[in-house]
This record gives sequence, structure tokens and C-alpha cells, in this order.
Amino acid sequence: MYRTHTCGELRIEHINQSVTLSGWVQKVRNLGGMTFIDLRDRYGITQLVFNEESHKELCEKTADLGREFVIQVKGQVAERSNKNAKIATGDVEILVEELNVLNSSELPPFTIEDETDGGDELRMKYRYLDLRRNPVRENLVLRHKIGFEVRNYLNSQNFIETETPVLIKSTPEGARDFIVPSRMNEGQFYALPQSPQVFKQLLMVSGFDRYFQIVKCFRDEDLRADRQPEFTQIDCEMSFVEQEDILNTFEGMTKHLFKVIKNVDIDYTFPRLSYADAIKYYGSDKPDTRFEMKFIDLTDDVKDSEFKLFNEAEYVGGICAEGCATYTRKQLDKLTDFVKKPQIGAGGLIYIKFNTDGSVKSSVDKFFSAEQLKAIGSKFNAKEGDLVLILAGGLNKTLTALCELRLEMGEQMGLRDKNKFSPLWVVDFPLLEWDEDANRFHAMHHPFTSPKAEDMGMLESAPGDVRANAYDLVINGVEIGGGSVRIFNDELQQKMFKLLGFTEEEAENQFGFLMNAFKYGAPPHGGVAFGFDRLVSLFAGLDSIRDVIAFPKNNSGRDVMIDSPSPVANEQLDDLSIALNMKDKE
Ligand code: AMO
Repeated sequence: MYRTHTCGELRIEHINQSVTLSGWVQKVRNLGGMTFIDLRDRYGITQLVFNEESHKELCEKTADLGREFVIQVKGQVAERSNKNAKIATGDVEILVEELNVLNSSELPPFTIEDETDGGDELRMKYRYLDLRRNPVRENLVLRHKIGFEVRNYLNSQNFIETETPVLIKSTPEGARDFIVPSRMNEGQFYALPQSPQVFKQLLMVSGFDRYFQIVKCFRDEDLRADRQPEFTQIDCEMSFVEQEDILNTFEGMTKHLFKVIKNVDIDYTFPRLSYADAIKYYGSDKPDTRFEMKFIDLTDDVKDSEFKLFNEAEYVGGICAEGCATYTRKQLDKLTDFVKKPQIGAGGLIYIKFNTDGSVKSSVDKFFSAEQLKAIGSKFNAKEGDLVLILAGGLNKTLTALCELRLEMGEQMGLRDKNKFSPLWVVDFPLLEWDEDANRFHAMHHPFTSPKAEDMGMLESAPGDVRANAYDLVINGVEIGGGSVRIFNDELQQKMFKLLGFTEEEAENQFGFLMNAFKYGAPPHGGVAFGFDRLVSLFAGLDSIRDVIAFPKNNSGRDVMIDSPSPVANEQLDDLSIALNMKDKE
């Protein structure tokens, strides 16, 4: 038997018991006469004691042990004279009587402790060692728990988990596909699913009624902290439902997860915010509503001012940062630099300080009297002590820049507390979005999304104004999930493909199977997919989804541990009838 207990298990009640433990050597301390070893496994750390006086030979053996050696020890549990309240086993230690080295270890490239000296790339290269560290492993344990609870909850609601294929044909979710050549079908390719969208809809045609799957999805898109090329969705679909039924079901699931995983009670209905209002008040379709600081539109109020920038701007708007009138010149300059960064792209930043002594100081004193500035302030409900920050310029660009400024101020003012959760549904997304480059419409969510019944009449006359039965679940400024009520009528689906610029032939080639299925009694249906990695990282209070994935890719989409992607042998390419012409690339 390798062990009778784990390294996290022994307590004061085990004193005098003979035990066997196995684990990794975290630290060896030789204090002359006594050698102490911290023995670690997934469950914790237990202190081992080797006494030179009583066990000389054994003690000498410890000199050969290095960090991360795998050992087995047998001994007696004893009470520690010097207790360690920081660890669960801190009341006891093992007086070792037998030591077996199960495996040696090379010196690890970084310290395997909660605080490590290893840089990002190094830890990614040796991810299996990084995963030995508590904080990293705990994220994956949390992931396991959330996945388990999702299955529990959806099972209790009659959802059936069904696997769908991974080698499929391209599904248009807006990103590029990863493609896989087929050896048996020369010159033809599978695509890895960007999501199981069409399959879950077909399962509704099959009468499954309620489907879910915790499933890998693949998208060849630019990577960010919240995007990986392969990621996991909690993918769901329901039949005979309207938008309200779907939102209620998944609001229920989200509340359940908050309760069982975080012990957070959310005893209110998630607010619903229209896409139009989200953009108007927050400049984003995924607003961080942990704090208010909504935008105030000043465009009409300052149209006739003497300040040219305001007169000419398509949009002038701002936010009120409570209590920030104390901001110094240096702080304001830093904020100005922030909004002028190329990624944000504002031309400059206008401020109005409403000082506590009743005076007003602004960067546009030349153009506005104190009265006029106070009138602007009243639009923001600015009190003495507040700071109003204003941006002006083209509509979309300024709204986006103001969104970044709002988030930055929220950060600086400590309003983005990781232990506070503010969920909401963003609803009524536009059905279509105009693509300037391609000179045609794209589906904002995907082509299977149903227009809102009341906007159906505008499909031909004003397609850009049609709203969709589509919704996103947003928590703390992160898009956690998205979905829609689907089109379930083959004629409407065909019309939609036409609007999106598909010829009849293209639509038939790509989606003939779906339109055909719709001819055989497709029920009304709709669904949602949650980004599982994003959900876990939100619960873990992390900024990147990489930390909740056991073996993630880096920002260039590489797995630096297994060194992938990598070239393949010419024979493999020959089998697939693929000729690489790398010369063109050089
Ligand atoms: P959507 O494309 O909105 O919808 O994706 C659903 C959710 O998946 C997460 N997500 C990602 N997470 C990590 N890395 C990525 N690259 C990535 N891309 C998306 C997000 C997002 O909200 N089939 C539809 C769902 C439906 O209509 O039912 C779909 O995939 O959290």
C-alpha cells in the first residue's frame, strides 16, 4: 500500500497512529540533529521529522533527497511542539521510521510554491509542474465543481447531454474555421465546430426537447485574455419556448451556481437592458454594471457653444466621477494620455472640477462661463467634489473611448470589486450588422436567429433596423453567454440567407440539410451557450481564461509545452494529397 492517508488529512486525533504517506518533497531543512521535510500532495502538506539520534541511517538518507523527489514514508503521528496554524495539518508531524524513494527529480525550473519565481512562458512550458502549485490546481478544481453542478442542475431540469460530432462542415459563427484534411476524400476538408449550433437545432427537430453539452469549440480568431482558439461552451437548446422561458431557465442555472459555488444569493431578477441603451449609457454591449457612472449625452446642449470641438462633434458626452475633483494636474494628464492611446484613439479629454469650496475649474474655462459649466454639471447631477470628464468626436469612436474611460475610472475608484457580481441580460440586439468592407450585411449573432415579430415588416424595407430575439448574459463587463430564439420555418430561413447575400445555390450547398430538416415539423426552439472558461474565471476572480484551462495556448495560439502547431512529415502530407508551397511564404 502506497499510503494510508493523504498529506492533507492528519489531525490531532491521529496522534500515535502508524501511518504511511506518499508525496513530493517540497522542502528539506536540516537543523543539525533533526531534518524536517515538507511532504506535499494534492490534498496538502505534512511535516516529516527525521531524528538523527534515534534514526541515524535514515537521517543520512535524507541528504540525497532533492525538491520534487517522490517518496514514501512510514512513521508515527506526533503532536507538534511548534504548531503551524497556516496549514490544516499544522498541529501534527510524522516521526519517520522508514523512507522509500519512489522516484528522483531533476531540479525544477521554478519553485513549486504558491508564490513562484517562474515567468509566464516558463510555467507554460512546464505546465505539468505549474499544475502542482495550489493556486493553479485550485482553479481546475473549481472548474470541475462548476461543471459538475451545471450537469446536476440541467439534469434536474430534464436536459439530455448529447455529444455532437467534432469533424463537421463549417458553421458560420463569424470566426475562421480550423480545417482538417480528409485522407479518404481527396481535396476535401472537415471543419472543427465553432459551436454545435446546427446540430443542437437538428436535435430539436428530432424531438429531444431539451439538450445540453459541455463541449469544446474551435475558432481561429485573434486571441485575447478572454479568448482561446479552443474553448468550452455550456451549450443548450430548448423546444416550445419563447425568449422569456429561455432567460428564466438560464437565470435559474446562474443563480444556482452562484449559490452552491460562491454562496452568493442573487434574490432579484436579472435586469434587462436593450442593446440600444447599453450602447447609449455604457458604450458597450457588455457593460460592467457593478457601478453606475452612466454616460450623459451633451451633444445638443453644447452645439451652439464657442468651443469649436464641441460644435463640430457628432457626439459629445461624458461621465461624472464622484469625489474626484481632487484629481491633480498630473492625474488628469495621465488620464488624457490614457484616452489618447492609439487603442482608444480620443483626441483629448475635457474636465470640469466642481470643487468643494463651490468654485468650478475646467480645461475649457476659455469657452464657458462658470454658470454654463454648472449647467453642464447639473445634467450629470454633479455635486461639489465631483469631476466631470467629457469626450467629443465621431459617435461610435467616442462612445467606445468613453467606455474605456469609464472602466478606467471605475478601476481607479475601486468600484470593480471582484467579490461583487452584477449580472444582466442585454436584449434586442440588431439582427444584422453592416460590413463596410464586404459591402453587405452580416448576422450579428448567427444566421439562424429569429427577427423580433414586431420588426418582421422591416426585413425588406429597413433590414438594418430589425431587432433580433437575441440576448447575452453579461456579468461584471464580461460576455458570459449568448443565444437566441431561432428561425424554424424554412421560408424565413431562406429569406434570411438571401439578406445575408447567399445565392440560392450557396445556401443550398451549405445549409440545405437544415432547411430540409425544417420541412419535417421543426418545433419552435431557442437556446444559449455559456462560455464555460469565462464563467469559471469570473468565479475564480481571474482576468484571464488561461488560468482555468489545464493546458492552454499562448497568445500566438501555440502550446509551448508540446510545441504545437508543428510541421508534419512529407509522407503524412502525401497521404492527404497536400502539397505545401512554403517558398511562396518566405
Ligand atoms: P457565441 O458565439 O456568442 O454563441 O458564443 C457563446 C459564448 O462562448 C464564449 N466564447 C468564447 N470563450 C472563449 N474563447 C473564445 N474564443 C470564445 N468565443 C466565444 C462567450 C460567448 O458568450 N451557437 C451560439 C450560441 C447560441 O446561439 O445558442 C454561440 O456560439 O462566453
